[in-house]
Amino acid sequence: MSLPFNPLGLVDLRRVKAALQRRMQLMAEDLLASKIFVIINGKGGVGKSSLAAALAVALAKLGLRVLLMEMDEQGNNGEDTGYNGTDLDDGGQAQAAAILDGKPLTPTGEARPGLFVVPGGPALEDIIEELYCQRRAARHADNPEDQVAWMGMYAAALDAVRDLYDVIILDVAPGSEPLQLQALVAGDMTIIPSRSDPSSRKGLRTVGRRFAQALSLNPMLRLLGVVVFGTNSSATRVQSNIRNQLTADLKGNAPVFEQTIRCVESAAVTCRSRGKVPQELVSAQDLEPAVLRSIKALAGDYKSLAMEVLQAKADLDTRRREGNAA
Ligand SMILES: Nc1ncnc2c1ncn2[C@@H]1O[C@H](COP(=O)(O)OP(=O)(O)OP(=O)(O)O)[C@@H](O)[C@H]1O
Ligand SMILES: [Mg+2]
Repeated sequence: MSLPFNPLGLVDLRRVKAALQRRMQLMAEDLLASKIFVIINGKGGVGKSSLAAALAVALAKLGLRVLLMEMDEQGNNGEDTGYNGTDLDDGGQAQAAAILDGKPLTPTGEARPGLFVVPGGPALEDIIEELYCQRRAARHADNPEDQVAWMGMYAAALDAVRDLYDVIILDVAPGSEPLQLQALVAGDMTIIPSRSDPSSRKGLRTVGRRFAQALSLNPMLRLLGVVVFGTNSSATRVQSNIRNQLTADLKGNAPVFEQTIRCVESAAVTCRSRGKVPQELVSAQDLEPAVLRSIKALAGDYKSLAMEVLQAKADLDTRRREGNAA
């Protein structure tokens, strides 16, 4: 059953406004534990979904209860973790039911023990259409609260379930600005994968602008760091240039993670086509030796990166505690 509709046929946002007020209260009382990672870049094909899947599987293997939600119509998480075409793959229906009908955000199942998934897929078209309409309607609202409430539709759905998980990972589509804003309002920490080319860096700056916009509703949001993706691991000088450029782009606002993700296309294609992340294929017997070597190396990159991400999160938590104690 849908929520009541206003005369324009848009989703009623009273529930969202109440959720946003509750979240501000929790933040003020320091009761909102940071656990939602937003993997985002305004540019496509920079490794967001590969990173989201690898991180989700690694953290679930560590014994954490992880929710992986794909905010993208492409359904790449289903490819990367192998649930495409299974009962878990609902084409984004569960996500749409939560955002548009106010139903609880319920995963379709576990892709691995402890790894719960809310798939993306074609049903997200309805969500995106609603978001564009809400944004347009909000421009005509008199009340400042009504002008921004639409940005919190995902935050309201996620806040209602965040206590059920240790970690929540949002894999966000590159092309949809309203969807990106939703993720940035809902999330606690952003991770931005970026290749070294100018358009990836432009995508990163675009996220920076949206990040600033989201802060008004989500003042706790932090840039956890940038992951340099798809580089040639042996080119140290090139890497250090990329790192310097990205640090300059971010105006010193975020660290660039030490660990980069190497460019090994055949390994990446093999993993996606088998529905496994690299660390799950390191013992595969049926792979060509060169591909297996690349997969092992890639698995090592992701493993170190996962540790670095956890450390960065722990440092952020410490800074928050100290900030609140001060
Ligand atoms: N380590 C890697 N080396 C080379 N290619 C890779 C690597 N990892 C992933 N790829 C390839 O890069 C492409 C983009 O990866 P991915 O889908 O993870 O990016 P994305 O940012 O999520 O893309 P989109 O914006 O379309 O959602 C895919 O074809 C994938 O197979
Ligand atoms: Mg993707």
